[in-house]
Amino acid sequence: MSEEIEENVLVCHSDKQDEIIFSDEETTVAVTGTQFGKSQAGAMWMKRQTHTYTEANDNFLMVAPSYKIMQQSMLPYFLDAMRGFGEYSKSDAVFKVHSGGTVFFRTSTDPDSIVGIPNVRAAWGDEAGKFTLYFWENFRARIASKGARTLLTTSPYTLNWLWKDVVKPKLQGKLPEVKLIRAASWENPYHTLHDPVKKLREQQRMDPRRFAMVYGGEFGKMQGLVYDCWDDDENIVKPFELPMGTRYIAGVDWGFNDPACIKVRAITPLGIQYGISEFFKSGQTIADMVRIAKQKRLTWPIEKFVCDPSQPGAIEEFNRNGLVAEKATNDIRLGIDAHYELIKSRRYKEFKGTCPHSQDERETYHYPEPEDFGPDDKQKEQLPVDANNHSMDVDRYLTLATRHMHREKPIRPSKSTSPFDPILRGKSEKQTENFS
Ligand SMILES: Nc1ncnc2c1ncn2[C@@H]1O[C@H](COP(=O)(O)OP(=O)(O)OP(=O)(O)O)[C@@H](O)[C@H]1O
Ligand SMILES: [Mg+2]
Repeated sequence: MSEEIEENVLVCHSDKQDEIIFSDEETTVAVTGTQFGKSQAGAMWMKRQTHTYTEANDNFLMVAPSYKIMQQSMLPYFLDAMRGFGEYSKSDAVFKVHSGGTVFFRTSTDPDSIVGIPNVRAAWGDEAGKFTLYFWENFRARIASKGARTLLTTSPYTLNWLWKDVVKPKLQGKLPEVKLIRAASWENPYHTLHDPVKKLREQQRMDPRRFAMVYGGEFGKMQGLVYDCWDDDENIVKPFELPMGTRYIAGVDWGFNDPACIKVRAITPLGIQYGISEFFKSGQTIADMVRIAKQKRLTWPIEKFVCDPSQPGAIEEFNRNGLVAEKATNDIRLGIDAHYELIKSRRYKEFKGTCPHSQDERETYHYPEPEDFGPDDKQKEQLPVDANNHSMDVDRYLTLATRHMHREKPIRPSKSTSPFDPILRGKSEKQTENFS
């Protein structure tokens, strides 16, 4: 970077960069096109916070969705902005502000990475659109709700929690505590697309929706989604009383550092399948999982648990505890194709509000970028990127396990002690499904 530009970085920001840098709101969310200058602005915002809160026990948090983003963008901008104001310790991943507090650097790949940092005054998440809903919920519970000022900067990636729970409601006039700043790449005077001729040329070259997302900073569906046929209007229904004769099975994905997941699937006599419940949490022992599974079985007459086959010991533990558990068929391609078909034919739906992490994972469960595979490979023959797919795996297990269910007898009579069980109230499928 030339001296002239470095001068500019420090003294001359665009209006919207200034809005980010000088925001004192409880929560500031800046969604912009790529290379707008949001990370640069985020670093200056954090610098202001470290100069606002100057007690020795004041802590600050900077979170990136990956080590690479931290190393290549957040950290260098911050260290540049803080030159002469403190010391960086790479081994401890902290920056100690001279006569002030401490800045902690973390990544969102580990949901527990932010546990145990007390007295956080300000937190900045860069490329926050890549955080999972699970990480965001932890972040909000531990940091934002404790009065820390929060800045999220990001490009839009997909229609995930950031769109559904933050940006969309804000645009509808809700969330008064959130300040939303939106900007396109070309609003940065140093961006090549600031030149209208270059902008037009790029616009003509690119798919319009992709252009709007990458440079315009507008939200849209991610490219290469595995379940691109999912449609909230068609595949999400208001919870209703399930009809007489509905069968219930559950799927299990083990996890300790990663979240473990249990989902309950209802299959009506007409063969429509509903995702009706989801458990999603990290740090779960097998004993915890047995307890949760038993709780689920108290609410629904779950016939069996189809489980991630990688942990036979855990499956055995379920069985020893009286839960009927079996290994799931773990053919990824077969499972995805079958589940895709269920979604597309609208024979798979989810009860609104019951499976939030599934909804979030579905919006990011994607195939590798076309440039990542060879000329002879077809995208659909590839396997999806193996990340944030805990509930997606469970969906596959359940769909393959339910394929021949209508030909089988229930493993045990569908009998429940739950007062909510419609079986006991004897509603027919016709009577109940109309409520959707
Ligand atoms: N006010 C400014 N004056 C001069 N150059 C700037 C300014 N703000 C940002 N830049 C330069 O513009 C480029 C993009 O900035 P930055 O990395 O902050 O953008 P970004 O929106 O975070 O980009 P990305 O989408 O790649 O994460 C960088 O080279 C940065 O140095
Ligand atoms: Mg950036």
